[in-house]
Amino acid sequence: MHILHVVGARPNFIKAAPVLRALALHEGVRQALVHTGQHYDAAMSDVFFQQLQMPRPDFNLGVGSGTHAQQTAGVMLALEPVLREQKPDLVLVYGDVNSTVAAALVCSKLGVRVAHVEAGLRSRDRSMPEEINRLLTDQLSDVLFTPSADGDENLVREGVDPAKIHRVGNVMIDTLIRLLPLADAHLPAELPTPFALVTLHRPSNVDDVPWLRELLATLADLSSQLHVVFPVHPRTRQRLEELGPAPGLDTRLRLLTPLPYLEFLALQRHAAMVITDSGGIQEETTFLGVPCLTVRENTERPITISHGTNQLVGRDLQRLRAATLEVLKSGVLERDSTLERKEENSNHRVPLWDGHAADRIAEIILRGAA
Ligand code: UD1
Repeated sequence: MHILHVVGARPNFIKAAPVLRALALHEGVRQALVHTGQHYDAAMSDVFFQQLQMPRPDFNLGVGSGTHAQQTAGVMLALEPVLREQKPDLVLVYGDVNSTVAAALVCSKLGVRVAHVEAGLRSRDRSMPEEINRLLTDQLSDVLFTPSADGDENLVREGVDPAKIHRVGNVMIDTLIRLLPLADAHLPAELPTPFALVTLHRPSNVDDVPWLRELLATLADLSSQLHVVFPVHPRTRQRLEELGPAPGLDTRLRLLTPLPYLEFLALQRHAAMVITDSGGIQEETTFLGVPCLTVRENTERPITISHGTNQLVGRDLQRLRAATLEVLKSGVLERDSTLERKEENSNHRVPLWDGHAADRIAEIILRGAA
């Protein structure tokens, strides 16, 4: 059986790595890996391949950055000949980035079976490019691997045949569980403690300059209560450069370059709290039991709220301030109590977020159900 994986952006590498490993254990499976080139900087791509011990891509489409239409069309044009030549039995696509929807569309037009890993998530906010990508990819897919029950419910509500849906759990958590024992050795040196870990890269936060300015000023204010460590995504870095000297940035708000997987995992584990707009980080903090404030009005991962430590603070700086103070009051700054709470929270893990989602995917594919 010939299986082709399409990845393109940082979170996809983390999701595909365990599936590649699980399928490699089976004789009779031949795999090919396509990197679309959506993310291309060494810090956004190569270092992930190394740390996740992924095979080098067999094909690099070199699509790079551009408008959504340019990026999506670029992947489609470059992927079509690869699929014609490779003739895979099944193509696996991951998550919700532009590379994902582009690959699903090419496959469905060529009549190649396509399976979507991390299917069914919905924010119900169509102003998010990822929501459009998720909706279309799920409609185009022949097989839908969901991480949690809400995913199944969303798909059934949208008319997807339940026979195509397989709830397998969370592949991102597979990678986390495998690599967590290595993370502490990668904790960045000279880390101030205690600290809040911040990541922001969604267009809704970073492309709106007045809002970004206020958000940074609020983080700078908060840094008088605890240190703030902020690895900056390239999109955000560009916006910060456009902003000029950011208001109120002092030495307790530390801007870093984008970090490799293990360094970032170590930071999450040791953070007193996390402030983010990422989807994956909402999940990882849920698993790790670290309080997470999400700077968005909605989430496609409601399970992180019902089962986890995540809360939405929206575009409301008062709420962000109040929620941060609430977390600080809860004693999170005392190291021992933090570890205890994390331990306690680990008892509330989400069903099937157990390190074996990729094994279940491989088993379903090989049994011929996919
Ligand atoms: C993309 C995904 C988003 C995901 C995020 C993870 C879509 C629509 N968005 O957003 O869902 O959460 O990846 O990081 O697919 N850039 C570089 N070097 C790189 C890659 C990007 O400098 O290696 C810069 C470029 O200026 C580019 C910008 O970052 O224009 C944005 O990159 P892009 O891939 O368009 O979207 P992300 O914001 O990374």
